[in-house]
Amino acid sequence: MTRKVTKAVFPVAGLGTRFLPATKSIPKEILTLVDRPLIQYAIDEARAAGITEFIFVTSRGKSALEDYFDDAPELDASLRAKNKTAILEELEKTNMPSGAIAYVRQRRALGLGHAVWCARRMIGDEPFAVILTDDVIAADKPCLAQMIEAYNENPGNYVAAMEVPTSKISSYGVLDCEQVNGNTYKVNGMVEKPPAEEAPSNLAVIGRYILTPEILHNIDAAIQSNTTGAGGEFQLTDAIAQDIEAGNPVYGFRFNGQRYDCGSKAGFLQATVAFGLARDDLKDEFAEYLGDVMTMRAAAE
Ligand code: G1P
Repeated sequence: MTRKVTKAVFPVAGLGTRFLPATKSIPKEILTLVDRPLIQYAIDEARAAGITEFIFVTSRGKSALEDYFDDAPELDASLRAKNKTAILEELEKTNMPSGAIAYVRQRRALGLGHAVWCARRMIGDEPFAVILTDDVIAADKPCLAQMIEAYNENPGNYVAAMEVPTSKISSYGVLDCEQVNGNTYKVNGMVEKPPAEEAPSNLAVIGRYILTPEILHNIDAAIQSNTTGAGGEFQLTDAIAQDIEAGNPVYGFRFNGQRYDCGSKAGFLQATVAFGLARDDLKDEFAEYLGDVMTMRAAAE
C-alpha cells in the first residue's frame, strides 16, 4: 500500500536579500499578501492536502516565524473583551496544535538540497512534501492536494511543473520529460538553472515536491562527498535527477492554478493585486482604484 504523505518540509532559512531593507528585521516568509503572511498560505495549502506534521528549516533571525504560530493570549483576551469575533476566528486559524511544527536549523546557506537534508531525522523513512513559500499558487483545489491525489494513484517522486518563457528559464530547475497522461509527465532528466540554450524544455520546476526517502540518501551522498551543483550549492534538483538514473520514477505535475513568484518584487506585486481583487471585502474599491490608475496612465502616455 502507498504510504500516506503526512509530513511537509518548509525551507525558510533564506536571507531574503531581494526584499532588503524590509527583510533586515523580519523573515521574508512574514511578508504579507493583503493581510496574511506568505507562510500562512503555505501552511494552509499543506493542511488542505492532509499534512499534519510541519517541519521548518530555519536560520538565525527567523524567530518571528515561531511566534507567529504560537498562541497570543493578550491579543486574544483583548479581542474577546471587544467582541471582535470575526478577527478572533481568523487569529485562531494561525494557532497550530502543540507539537505540530518542528523547527530545525540550517547553520549555513548551502542550498535547497542541504536545507531539506537538515530535516532528515524528522522525516525518517517516509515520503514527504516540500513547499517553497516564495511560490504562492492560487487554485480551486490547492496545488499540493492535486499532487498528493496523483501520488496516491501512482506513487513516485513528484515535482510541480509550469511552462515559463525562455528568457526566464535559467532561474529554474528544468525538466526533460514526456507527457504520460493529463497533468502528469514522466521525467527523464532534470537540470538546475541551465543557460537558456541548454535548457531541455520550457517546463520549470515550481516549489512543490513530493519525495521518497531515497532523495535524502542522495543528498547525503552529495554532502559526504562534497559534490555541489549549480551555484556551488547542494541542489535538490540534482538529488532527484540521481533518482531517475537509479531507475526510480519521477513525475512532473502540471498543476491547475495560477502561480505567483513572491520571491521577486514584480511577482509579489502581481500577487497582491490578484489576492486583493479576490477578496469580497476589498474587490470593488480596489478594482475601481486600479481602473483609475490605468486610465490616468493611458492619458499620460
Ligand atoms: C528553487 C529550485 C528550482 C525551482 C525553484 C522554483 O530555486 O532550486 O529548481 O525551479 O525553486 O521556485 P530558487 O528559486 O530557490 O533559486
